[in-house]
Amino acid sequence: MRKHIVAGNWKMNNDLAQTKSLISELKKQHQTSNAEVMIAPSFTNLMSAFEALKGLEIQVIAQNMHFAESGAYTGEVSADMLKSIGVQTVILGHSERRAYFNETDELLAKKVDSALKSKLRVIFCFGEELKDRKAGNHETIVESQIKNALFHLKANAFESIVMAYEPVWAIGTGETASPEQAQEMHAFIRKTLANEYGKEVADSISILYGGSVKPSNAKEIFSKPDVDGGLIGGAALNAEDFYAIVNAF
Ligand code: 13P
Repeated sequence: MRKHIVAGNWKMNNDLAQTKSLISELKKQHQTSNAEVMIAPSFTNLMSAFEALKGLEIQVIAQNMHFAESGAYTGEVSADMLKSIGVQTVILGHSERRAYFNETDELLAKKVDSALKSKLRVIFCFGEELKDRKAGNHETIVESQIKNALFHLKANAFESIVMAYEPVWAIGTGETASPEQAQEMHAFIRKTLANEYGKEVADSISILYGGSVKPSNAKEIFSKPDVDGGLIGGAALNAEDFYAIVNAF
């Protein structure tokens, strides 16, 4: 079902003590909100995040996983391992995974299948690079990322998919897509989904925007009709900023 979601992607930040400290700050800021609130600490701190957040409506989610069920994949973590500690949602396809760990659409299709098989919800990230935007290819790139990784799925699988449009040029750069650019792309994403799966499916999917979302720009971005929430990097590392964004809904 389409919902407002604000998810903090902590990336490779915060050791155990810092995780506990940020969570205690988040708890001070927490109040009932119109959005589902999620944080994605590193694998090593997922358990302590769960413990620290017991009873609160802040979901603890994972940043990545391997596609295999188990086996000789040194250093990797499987969907079932995440499930076994209570994780219900995993981020897949982040541009940093694509850029630094060579994750391709084909690999991501396998990861999506594995996550869904283990009944994890997927926040599927995609977005164009600056060169694509400059060349006017942004829609073509985004369409192919979505098609290649997701269009083998049946329509009902989309009940467990959240889309996250993150233009690479806006991630960690301070340069945000304008609310109009975000709306235009989100509408295009919804149209792409509608063409393949029908309007009902497309209208039921949450599409998040990510890339330099801050307290100062969240309200305007979230006011756009096809923007259902945000995937927040830098600003999620500060409890006040993160909750200012959550409360923008
Ligand atoms: P920033 O908010 O730091 O630009 O990062 C966005 C992001 O990559 C969230 O996944």
